[in-house]
Amino acid sequence: MKDGSILIIGIDGPAASGKSTVSRLVAEKLGYVYVDSGSLYRGMTWKAVREGVDVKNTDDMIQLRDRSNWEFFVENRVVRFTIDGEDPGSQIRSEAVRERVSDVAAIPEIREFIVSQLRDTARFGDLVMEGRDIGSVVFPEAQFKYYLDADPEERARRRHQELVSREEESDVNKVLNSLQRRDAKDSGRKTAPLQIPLGAEVINSTRMSIDEVVAHIVSEVVAKRN
Ligand code: DC
Repeated sequence: MKDGSILIIGIDGPAASGKSTVSRLVAEKLGYVYVDSGSLYRGMTWKAVREGVDVKNTDDMIQLRDRSNWEFFVENRVVRFTIDGEDPGSQIRSEAVRERVSDVAAIPEIREFIVSQLRDTARFGDLVMEGRDIGSVVFPEAQFKYYLDADPEERARRRHQELVSREEESDVNKVLNSLQRRDAKDSGRKTAPLQIPLGAEVINSTRMSIDEVVAHIVSEVVAKRN
């Protein structure tokens, strides 16, 4: 299958489906570059919050997009970026960003810009890219496409445990509600909604460990890539 072109593994799925951990580990095991596409939507949201731009005002968001300068680089096999020379770092995980990012991700003009930046990361080499529209929009021709899912209760339980382990306050029912709200927003938006990409293999990880999911993907890629 490998003919000298870049090999792309797209891993899509809803919030807290285990995508990030699985994608990172798959990239590590295969020696590929990892791209968290959500971090770009979060980066754009961070920039808006920082500059006091209302994310619901599409014209202002387009102006912000046009005046900000993004630079991409790879560090430890992970794609990172700066906006106007600044690395948003862990601030992309802040509550201010979390609350607004679904609105930013629903703006077609912002998606168009981010999709083109994401496609451009293929210049860094073979990729594992996680997101919501990787196999459907960003790289529909990707050689490997997966849609990682788990029952909402299990996803809420995992996210809750993650928060507790970071010593953050958490209530599992509230986490479930918030996940379901985000799923509905991400699946219901007009542009590039969360969906199972054509040709993607669906992996329901409700009763699987992270290691099992990773081993499954890695073995398929190794078997087919040569
Ligand atoms: O995966 P995440 O939680 O970091 O994603 C943040 C937001 O960006 C979330 O609302 C979904 C959206 N997103 C998207 O629309 N398309 C992607 N490829 C990745 C994320």
